[in-house]
Formats: sequence, C-alpha cells, structure tokens
Amino acid sequence: MTTVSFDQHSPEYARNWRQINADLRDRCPVAHTDAHGGYWVVSRYADVAEVVRDDETFSSYYELPDGSHNGTTIPVSPMRQVPIEMDPPEFFDYRKLLTSRFSPAEAKKWEPLVREATAYCIDSIIESGQGDLILDIASPVPAIFTMALLGLPLDGWHAFSDVTHSIIHSTPETPEYNSAMVDLMTILGQVNDVIARRRVEPTDDLISHLVQAQIDGRPLPDDRLMEIITLVIFGGVDTTGSLIGNALEWLYRNPAKRDLLRADPDLLPKAIEEFLRYFSPVAGLARTATRSCAVGDQKIAAGERVFVSWSSANFDSEVFDDPDEVILDRFPNKHQAFGLGIHRCLGSHFARSEAHIVIEEVLRRMPDYVVGAAQPYPSIGVVNGFISLPVTFTPGSAAGSTLRL
Ligand code: HEM
Repeated sequence: MTTVSFDQHSPEYARNWRQINADLRDRCPVAHTDAHGGYWVVSRYADVAEVVRDDETFSSYYELPDGSHNGTTIPVSPMRQVPIEMDPPEFFDYRKLLTSRFSPAEAKKWEPLVREATAYCIDSIIESGQGDLILDIASPVPAIFTMALLGLPLDGWHAFSDVTHSIIHSTPETPEYNSAMVDLMTILGQVNDVIARRRVEPTDDLISHLVQAQIDGRPLPDDRLMEIITLVIFGGVDTTGSLIGNALEWLYRNPAKRDLLRADPDLLPKAIEEFLRYFSPVAGLARTATRSCAVGDQKIAAGERVFVSWSSANFDSEVFDDPDEVILDRFPNKHQAFGLGIHRCLGSHFARSEAHIVIEEVLRRMPDYVVGAAQPYPSIGVVNGFISLPVTFTPGSAAGSTLRL
C-alpha cells in the first residue's frame, strides 16, 4: 500500500492542486492517505471512471453498524443530500422524479429568466465602473435562478447568494461559517413555509412538483424532500458560480482569448467545456467500498473510503492532449467535470446555459474589466472557486432589467 500525505482540504492542495494531482497520477495513481480517518485517492481518468460506474461496489450512501453513514464527502457532511447520497434501487425512483425538470428543454425554458437576472446583476454595478465578479454577478445569477426553479420568493436572493457562497468557502467552526449556518437555517425555514403553501396550492415550480410526487403510491417523506432541495441549492449555486468566476478570471489574464470570445460568442459552448475540464469546479467526491475489490493494482477492503478526483482525471494525458493547456475549441472533450455513471450531474444543462449567458453578457457589457486582488478559496474541499474577484471597468449604462427584486 502506498501511503501519501494528501488532504483535499489543505491550503497546500488549494494552491497547488494541478501539480499534486499530476504527481499522484505518475507515482501512485491509487494512493492511501491517513487524513480524516484514512481513505484512498484515485487520480487516473480510467480508474475514476471505473469506480463511479460501478455503483454496486462503490456506494454513495453506506450505512455503518452504529446507525451513522458515509456519504459522498470526506469528512461526512452533517446534512444528507438526495439523490446524490443514495444507492439503487431506491436511487432510481428519486432520480426519475427529477429528470423531467432538469432536461435540455427545461434549461432552454429558463434562459429568459437567466438573461434577466444577468442584466439585473450587471446593471447593479455598470454605471459605477467597479464591482465584484463573484459577489455581484457569478454568485447572484445562479442564486436567483435556483430560487426561481424551486419557487422561492426572489426578493431574498441576496441572503441566499451570500449563504450558499459563504458556507462553501468558509472553514467550519469559524465565526463566518457559524453565522452563515444561522442564515441557512432562516432560509430553510422559508423553504419549509413554501413547502406548506404549495401543499395547499401547488403551482408549476419544483417544490410543487416534489410535494405532489409519489413513490410507491406515497408522497415523499419530509426529510427526503428537504434533502433534495438542499442538494439543488448546494449543488447548483456555488458550483456554477465557480465555473463562471474561474472562466472570467482566466479570460482577464488572457486578453486575446477574451477578445476572441467577445467577438464570436458561438465559440462559447466549446470554451465552456474546456473551462469545466480545466477548472473542474467540483474537484472530487467520495464513495465507500461495499466489498473487497481492487482498483488499479491496489486492494481495497469493504468499508474503506475512496475519493475520486475529477480534477485529476481531467488532466490525464492518456485522454487529453496537452492537458495543461487551455484549448478553447478542444474537441472531443470527454471531461468528467459533471461526473459519470448513474449520479452524473442532473443540473449540467442549467450550468452550461447559465455560464454561457453570464460570460457572454459580461464580455459584451464590461469588455475591458480589470481584476484586482483576487481571493481564491483557501481550501478546495469540494468546490474550487474564488471568494471574490474585485473588478474595475469603463462604466456603461443600465440595460433596464424587468426584474424588480
Ligand atoms: C459547473 C457546475 C456544476 C458542476 C461542476 C457539477 C458537478 C456535479 C458532479 C461531479 C456530480 C456527480 C456527483 C457524484 O457522482 O457523486 C453532480 C451531481 C448532481 N448535480 Fe451538479 N454540478 C454543477 C451544477 C449543477 C446545477 C446547476 C444543479 C442544479 C440546479 C446540479 C444538481 C446536481 C444534482 C441534483 C446531482 C445529483 C445527481 C444524482 O445523484 O443522480 N448541479 N454535479
């Protein structure tokens, strides 16, 4: 067994993840670390794909004899999320409930709202010539969209955006994290109010869909309902915000490419796939072995935890030519940024459409933005993004969004 010193939460990993991943792929593609009680780290593309496609051997919700469980994060998150932390056969019933609401056609249907939200957010800073790409745009747009999708009142978007962003990047037990947790409880209280109202008077939103849904002829239990909603909130907002933030920061440092994408937004779909690969906003998640097995040449025992590193798989030179280069028209681009197998990201169509609209509009309306003191996340853990990206730019005029928030 090769033991390495690895912790995806460490500041060193946040600073140096591409190099650390490359060393792992070269030297010990299936390595063991003692961090967080011990787990395996799988870093090559083929091995990561093998693990996540074998959902019988590698569980996303592994019950322990003491009644606790292992989910998809290391360490285990106090709040279970569904269906990401669920195994077949139960998993399929829950995934089926959601697929129709996350289809490419639904993403298309939501485009006008995303455009309005983007106009609204850019309007809030455009006349002043300064703002923050993350706090004013990349986090709020996915927040407003997610609230609309769920059916939450949009006027609470500010708190919603701040909470989803702060909880992801702040360190547990710090005052910032504790205060974000308090705000989260307020938001979840509002979610509960909306659930109660939709039970009486359903509309067309996702919460109405879920309160009317049935599995085996019975409505969803309240805890499952909340576990789905928390996943949509935490799976959808900061992940997409991080993709947008990373892309805009890179485009600032590569002005010729920024000009290219601005001049021809038709290049954006392939460029966004490359940003997904290169920044891998969800760096990795975990499984638990249900039986003794082997990955690569390492034996893994039943009950051991396995971290699958999508951010490493996406740089594997067995699959990608010049993986360290950003090639905006890379094709094919079989990245694993949205995962693979039965749990592959349900929100991928939304994420792509939000990123497309926001990047296109920022480049169109703020083409000369200059990024100041960028603050990357001090720890990657799960999501890899920026706390803030202050910018200055030539002021412009408001577009006049119809959203009144
Ligand atoms: C750039 C943005 C995003 C990235 C990189 C991303 C990444 C991922 C990944 C890697 C998984 C697989 C997890 C696993 O195998 O354990 C996943 C699952 C999921 N994502 Fe996303 N995601 C993004 C945006 C979104 C959005 C916008 C939503 C919803 C609005 C969303 C909802 C979900 C859900 C519900 C699952 C669980 C699917 C299942 O278990 O069947 N994601 N995502």
